[in-house]
Amino acid sequence: MTSALGKDLVGLEGLTRAQIQLVLDTAEPFKEVSERAIKKVPTLRGQTIVNLFFEASTRTRISFEFAEKRLSADTVNVATSLSSVSKGETLVDTARNLEAMRIDMVVIRHPSSGAARFLAERIKSKVINAGDGTHEHPTQGLLDLLTLRDRFGKLDGLKVCLCGDVLHSRVARSNIFGLRTMGAEVAICGPRSLLPNDVSQLGVTVFDRIEQAIEWADALNVLRLQLERMSAGYIPSLREYNRVFGVTIERLERSPKDLIILHPGPMNRGVEIDSNVADGPHSVILDQVTNGVAVRMAVLYLLAGERPELAEVAKGGGEGR
Ligand code: CP
Repeated sequence: MTSALGKDLVGLEGLTRAQIQLVLDTAEPFKEVSERAIKKVPTLRGQTIVNLFFEASTRTRISFEFAEKRLSADTVNVATSLSSVSKGETLVDTARNLEAMRIDMVVIRHPSSGAARFLAERIKSKVINAGDGTHEHPTQGLLDLLTLRDRFGKLDGLKVCLCGDVLHSRVARSNIFGLRTMGAEVAICGPRSLLPNDVSQLGVTVFDRIEQAIEWADALNVLRLQLERMSAGYIPSLREYNRVFGVTIERLERSPKDLIILHPGPMNRGVEIDSNVADGPHSVILDQVTNGVAVRMAVLYLLAGERPELAEVAKGGGEGR
């Protein structure tokens, strides 16, 4: 059965407003499942899902695993360092071997941009991109949208600025596509060395100073400096970066608005964001993590092809009440 999202979720680029709205609305009843004493519904019973992570992850991998288990799917985590990938087996051979064991979905994180689509085009199982190189991280984009919608009650007309290392950020790309599709105004802010070359094609406003971004925005999504992806000296020093672009409480206190702060994690505290902002009243960073489970439950459910059992969840039924 083809789902309302298509066979796979590779990115937010190309998704319609109705499709994104559907994911966000579907996530709503799933939030409640995680608040129950027994956090489980039978929605994906019998589905087999493989989490194939070729890169480190805390939030995304654990969040997908919780989402799968709370929907009663059978899950397997493949640590690539312990699999035959470490002996040179290709991505497609690995996935085809998994498919030969009759799996239904693969959740993949990979350091190469395009790896998720490459795999999706070669295997029958549904593929969910959990972050591929500097391309996209669609479920992070969706959970950011849900967190913003929770706070502001809407996305239409909202002013959101992505701050910092936009160049290396798959989160930024998914946010830009998702937010613009949902009618938000999007800006980016950072040193020119960390902004993409094709910035004029992204349909975003560019701010060179963090103070301008803070004055303009309703929300800042602060991006991690991805030092592991930097092959050259993009910034003079971390201290200098914090001095010029760091999101500090002193800067936020000068804002005319009570703006909110998102960060996809992991954070470089004292570099792109100060601890008293990350842990302070402006921050919705842990709300993002909580929403990540509900969004991933929604994506898994929708890709599986909308089973009637969800009607029970939406009505407050299911197991563990
Ligand atoms: N936001 C995010 O992708 O975090 P992880 O790398 O820990 O999964």
